[in-house]
Amino acid sequence: MTINDYLQREESRFLRELFELLSIPSISTDPDYGPDVERCARWLKDHLEQMGFSTAEVCPTEGHPIVYAEWLEAGEEAPTVLLYGHYDVQPPDPLEEWISPPFKPEVREEKIFARGATDDKGQFFAHLKGLEAWLETTGGLPVNVKILIEGEEEVGSPSLAPWILENADRLACDAVIISDSSMFAPGIPAITYGLRGLSYLELTLEGPDHDLHSGLYGGGVPNPVLELSRMLASLHDEAGRIAIPGFYDAVRPMDPEEREAFGALPFEDEAFREEIGAEGLKGEEGYTTLERLWARPTLDINGIWGGFTGKGAKTVLPARVHAKLSCRLVPDQDPEVIAELVKAHLEAIKPSEVRLKVSFHHGGRPVITDRKGPIVQAATRAFDRVWDEETVFIRGGGSIPVVAHFAEILGAPTVLMGFGLENDRLHSPNEKLNLENYYAGIQTSAYLWEECGK
Ligand code: BES
Ligand code: MN
Ligand code: MN
Repeated sequence: MTINDYLQREESRFLRELFELLSIPSISTDPDYGPDVERCARWLKDHLEQMGFSTAEVCPTEGHPIVYAEWLEAGEEAPTVLLYGHYDVQPPDPLEEWISPPFKPEVREEKIFARGATDDKGQFFAHLKGLEAWLETTGGLPVNVKILIEGEEEVGSPSLAPWILENADRLACDAVIISDSSMFAPGIPAITYGLRGLSYLELTLEGPDHDLHSGLYGGGVPNPVLELSRMLASLHDEAGRIAIPGFYDAVRPMDPEEREAFGALPFEDEAFREEIGAEGLKGEEGYTTLERLWARPTLDINGIWGGFTGKGAKTVLPARVHAKLSCRLVPDQDPEVIAELVKAHLEAIKPSEVRLKVSFHHGGRPVITDRKGPIVQAATRAFDRVWDEETVFIRGGGSIPVVAHFAEILGAPTVLMGFGLENDRLHSPNEKLNLENYYAGIQTSAYLWEECGK
């Protein structure tokens, strides 16, 4: 049987199996879900074993386990490709906004709805099915394949770098393949050659040491919610630039050719605005939307809480307020340097009447990957065999911290070839993956291994 016949024949099972994987709530950030994360790792190990990866294992770490497997029978002459994915997912809240429950996968209008459908279970699982098709129909693979699926990507991959360092010999490879990004648009496949980095902080600002009656005390004592609002509002200037000294020092200016290439992509601000449902777009002056999203750093407030937020009204002067703040970074900004700059600036602008505590959550380095090497060409050819439109080269606004480690520790180039779409609602309610993209992903993967072997 040909590989394509096999892919067609097994379509419905491929969907059932993905549903099983999507049903496991492997939420890495919430300790309550630890057992589910563990269960997900074991499910994958068993699945890989069934597929013919007899060495599949669940590797414990200080955090969530890593699933690792290899098939090295293509011989020493054949290239070795490392496939990376992450089986952990983001929390599904706000739950009430989901049309079907996040961990009860459902197909509606030719789309698979579930947390993790596109980020990243549906995408790496497509590769597993592409590999399975080779193993089942030919009894082998055109290349040696190592598979690394982690369970901590959504929390900054704290255990992964040490693990890669420890296992560097075993992980040696010619290239890394990751499908954890998106196509450029429906029908237009993309190689993502750049990702932003991340620096994530949490702040607490405290005024009095307990909540006070806002009538008896208001006007005479510092209100931390008010003071924090003032501080946060001052972090950007009128032109949308970040007003923290030194913040832009390491930013590589965009080169004119790249700006031209971004400009040539079929992208409409108005369609983008409509998609997100806002009244307008907003960002740093002097840059287009794609430039702002892909090649410029940001500072965002992810959440603020404090004081009275319950039903009704309570006249209270709160003791403290909290905020979560994150910066997306571009080459050559360093997450730790940026965290220190932000912290120092907040200390400097803080009024003396309040106390400030800043803690560092996680970070990741920005990356630019190779755009010309043989593996990039192989990935492009695989896409070209599946889609009519030509593959475009884009950058991405999100972060995948491990990409920097693959380059630094393994010295291997990474190719980011997303199968999902930008509007798959990753991290949002009603995350989805179009059935078309799932099956096209499997097909692309099947071609990819062949192209890598050439
Ligand atoms: N898959 C995303 C990142 C992504 C999405 C890159 C689309 C390019 C295009 C990844 O799972 C993710 O969400 N990463 C986090 C990293 C963080 C938690 C360290 C992010 O970007 O917020
Ligand atoms: Mn992801
Ligand atoms: Mn994610």
